[in-house]
Amino acid sequence: MSKRTKWDTKGDLDESKNLPIYQHKATLQQAVKDNSFLVVTGETGSGKTTQLPQYLHQAGFWSNGKIGITQPRRVAAITVAQRVSQEMHCSLGREVGYQVRFDDCTTQDTVVKYMTDGCLLREILADPVLSQYSVVILDEAHERSLNTDILLGLLKQTLSSPDKASKGRCVPLKVVVMSATLETDKLSVFLGGCPVFTIPGRTFPVTSKFSCAIGPKDTESSVYVKEVVKVALDVHTSEMAGDILVFLTGQSEIEKACDMLYEKAESIDYRYDVQDHKVEGLLILPLYGSMPTDQQKQIFQPPPPGIRKCVVATNIAATSLTINGIKYIVDSGFVKQLNHNSRVGMDILEVVPISKSEALQRAGRAGRTSAGKCFRIYSPAFWEKCMPEYTVPEIQRTSLTAVILTLKCLGVHDVIRFPYLDRPEERFILEALKQLYQCDAIDRRGKVTRLGELMVEFPLPPGLTRALLQAASLGCEDLLLPVAAMLSVENIFIRPGHPEKQKEADKKHRQLGVQAGSCNDFTMLLSVFEKCKASDAPSAWCKDNYIHWRALKSAFSVETQLREILLRLQKKRDFPMEKFDGNKSELFRRCLCTGYFTNVARRSVGKVFCTMDGHGSMVHIHPSSTLFDQEAQLDWVIFHDLLVTSRIYIRTVCPIRYDWVKDLLPKLHEVDVYELSSVAREEVTDEEVAKWVTKEAAKRQTEGSAEDVF
Ligand code: CDP
Ligand code: MG
Repeated sequence: MSKRTKWDTKGDLDESKNLPIYQHKATLQQAVKDNSFLVVTGETGSGKTTQLPQYLHQAGFWSNGKIGITQPRRVAAITVAQRVSQEMHCSLGREVGYQVRFDDCTTQDTVVKYMTDGCLLREILADPVLSQYSVVILDEAHERSLNTDILLGLLKQTLSSPDKASKGRCVPLKVVVMSATLETDKLSVFLGGCPVFTIPGRTFPVTSKFSCAIGPKDTESSVYVKEVVKVALDVHTSEMAGDILVFLTGQSEIEKACDMLYEKAESIDYRYDVQDHKVEGLLILPLYGSMPTDQQKQIFQPPPPGIRKCVVATNIAATSLTINGIKYIVDSGFVKQLNHNSRVGMDILEVVPISKSEALQRAGRAGRTSAGKCFRIYSPAFWEKCMPEYTVPEIQRTSLTAVILTLKCLGVHDVIRFPYLDRPEERFILEALKQLYQCDAIDRRGKVTRLGELMVEFPLPPGLTRALLQAASLGCEDLLLPVAAMLSVENIFIRPGHPEKQKEADKKHRQLGVQAGSCNDFTMLLSVFEKCKASDAPSAWCKDNYIHWRALKSAFSVETQLREILLRLQKKRDFPMEKFDGNKSELFRRCLCTGYFTNVARRSVGKVFCTMDGHGSMVHIHPSSTLFDQEAQLDWVIFHDLLVTSRIYIRTVCPIRYDWVKDLLPKLHEVDVYELSSVAREEVTDEEVAKWVTKEAAKRQTEGSAEDVF
């Protein structure tokens, strides 16, 4: 076994010398030495992510501090660290390690550290000059993830003020920004005209073919899933040898497509059905973010001789990960994206058409080592009418709440004039401030409160953190910690494809709900967590109850980590404590209300509820909820999130009493945009604050009973 590993590693090393970046090793090492900021660009697959950190390690940068590399996606951070640790002949977590939310695989020996951009942002909070690092590489900057954009602004601010930058550091920090070709001039200008190092590309032509299967009106997932399966099978039977990469939207669609592919590939008769007689089989591999890492590793291994590999992936395979041997692309034309939905006033994961630049990037994945082909399942009309030119950066389309709180905690009060690479719309900044004010994280002047300082420590959405802290202050964190953990991992309930099994799973899930006593989706999560934890054979218990054991295992680990953060805060600071006399179920739901009062809805007619946040959206309880079909008995509810299809569904729902939110609801409307915008610009004067307070007091008096208002 060890012999084989040795042999593999040698092969890997030889391969790394063939990468386009290899010839520029010395120049790159020198360029980083000579500049505080450097932009490095090159085609995906040229070796930036895996090689540059090693070059800097070889050049001795590690002796002044760690070499940190950020990735927008956790899977990329993990798999690349694995690969690089192999290339550097060390076990993962020693010299080369990774850190992603809730999973830290580093030790004191770690000098090359891959991490998500969110993790580095948290580190900056504790240590603004990043004194532990000699070099920070912001990778995949073209992806324009919210956290990378903020890091860019923060590092620009820090490094451009020499006093700030040198404080607490022996040698100046080096910052390298890596990007796949796009927008490098813009990056360089933003970073004060820093040099751009371009790794000359080596790509082969890719021919792209449109089809007429998906037109401007087809957004139902069943349509594009079926179509990519059909096209992938066509390619398999009618094209010469070479691997296939299918771009789909998310885990469930990918699993569905893989199931269909397995089934259909069974009936292929390789004597007659395939064009290329060297092709004797199909290896189907899914690839998405929450997959176990050992399965992800398989993706990179070459298939056995005669076998064609078909990887069905999310957008992760577009730039973050390069799979060798791909000759054919099947492009669904869609991506799952977090967008701020102004109709409902929340961020929602939606399936949307990709941009044209994204489509070109996807196609390019077929031309790395030889000429390739890209099969688009959409029509030229779809390209023209539905696909935007470029992908809008995340900062301009999602909620900024967590980021604005981080900025405020870092002392950046003027959040409007912060150096954004692309400025978010002012209304999104104001929306974030409003939410922070509503959950008591900032005060009227936009200053972070004690509670805000505690909240920023948790890698959770602000509402959930608020509920958790409320529970902790009432001494019942044991009820909320498991729930917060369960909401932070992927879906724990298995929904089998087979209709009979589906019925059985539904029945088991319902039973779990009933056993949970006061039945709602939050107590259900708590109950599953506790029951499984108490079980002697947890994995068998999960199987029996149609629960994902792997997801629960990560929930256990997340709960422990959240508990550690909480304990640390409780020890360090004067933690707020309150008293409560009431039963446990009420206590639990009241704590939830403190964080989720912004997500409150009241039943209007039949099964329809109306949200109370000013948007007044008409929503339905999602069929996966334990409260589905019991709507008639409900009045007020809170919910964790929304799903928008042809209808708006609320998911993870809990009935509440109006009394519990009565005093909180006015907060939804009391914040004035004008005040907030001066708070955002730090222009608020004492006079203005006084005016604001009196105006509000007057408003409250005239409002009378809040029940009439809502
Ligand atoms: O960052 P960039 O896109 O420029 O390239 P890279 O990710 O460093 O990839 C360089 C090479 O390493 C490619 O040929 C990948 O297929 C390979 N690689 C791998 O085999 N396994 C990984 N986990 C990551 C990269
Ligand atoms: Mg890369």
